[in-house]
Amino acid sequence: EKGGYPHFMLKEIFEQPECINDCMRGRVNKETHEVILSAVNDHKEHLLNARRFIIVACGTSWHAGLIGKQLIEAFCRIPVEVEYASEFRYRNPVISNEDVVIAISQSGETADTLAAIELARSKGAFVYGICNAVGSSIPRNTDSGSYIHVGPEIGVASTKAFTGQVTVLTMLALTLGHEKKLINDTTYTHIIDELVQIPDKIKEVLKQNESIARLSRIFTYAHNFLYLGRGYSYPVALEGALKLKEISYIHAEGYPAAEMKHGPIALVDTEMPVVVIATQNAMYEKIISNIQEIKARQGRIIALVNPHDTVISKLADECIEIPETLECLEPLITTVPLQLLAYHIAVCKGKDVDQPRNLAKSVTVE
Ligand code: F6R
Repeated sequence: EKGGYPHFMLKEIFEQPECINDCMRGRVNKETHEVILSAVNDHKEHLLNARRFIIVACGTSWHAGLIGKQLIEAFCRIPVEVEYASEFRYRNPVISNEDVVIAISQSGETADTLAAIELARSKGAFVYGICNAVGSSIPRNTDSGSYIHVGPEIGVASTKAFTGQVTVLTMLALTLGHEKKLINDTTYTHIIDELVQIPDKIKEVLKQNESIARLSRIFTYAHNFLYLGRGYSYPVALEGALKLKEISYIHAEGYPAAEMKHGPIALVDTEMPVVVIATQNAMYEKIISNIQEIKARQGRIIALVNPHDTVISKLADECIEIPETLECLEPLITTVPLQLLAYHIAVCKGKDVDQPRNLAKSVTVE
């Protein structure tokens, strides 16, 4: 049932190219460059007239929500708030029938997310679910929604569900932005052309599995890790840190890279591996100086770089190559090596990666 893989987690990491294709199947048309989510078509009025979106979720799904915020704000110019469902439900949030709440949940059973939905609906908000488990409680309690269609996720650490969620959020933002005429046809076509290539680009990253396993052995005995990214890569840094924490039990934190100088850089020394998402996008020059600051304090850098990067490859201790894509689509690729890094470190430490201590696959209690 693990399809020849030693763990479900590794199997599910490797399934991601196929899962993203499944998620886009029947929704993204490569020839006509159309993105159609049936739920969006059925509820266009609600979605296009939203005064704001509020994304509610927990854990990894919350990280996908942070990326969704950037996508929706960039393409649709509608303000988006991202809330931990557990906080939202208990703080009497300002919410009305002009708001659209997007609930993201792999299992569709997370108690706090369900309660957040009930609260939002009681205040008249339209609720859109992004779930994986078909027929689960959240899809049954939302006004509309889209399944991510990535198949059952067995490993407790969420992997393919995250990239599936980000894929749906990308399609949602694209189709709404295009409807609102905020994305012109050329840009829209270009993004779709790039989106359909993502599965093949993930395959390029998966080919580096052996070298990621090797560098994981170097860093297995670290007690702390930092993960840094900016822009679209900041939520990826949070997600990379969460993966490492939950399966290897190593303390890790994700930070927006520029926040380092406001405190966390005090932690950096020779013992501190720092994972930096350093692809060549609008933030590239800024990331280089962030890396220099860490090197000046003898930190050890594992950098995610585009092929042929000659600058960062000289500064970093280890590099993982990321095929080029549009900045807004990078999280779909950059997340994958961070999943592999966490996986291999946990395996090196002899941990049970599919069933980490203290964790359950769906959190149906508060
Ligand atoms: C992390 C992880 C958890 C879940 C969170 C929400 O790998 O699995 O953080 O993402 O418990 O679960 P869902 O998405 O089922 O609501």
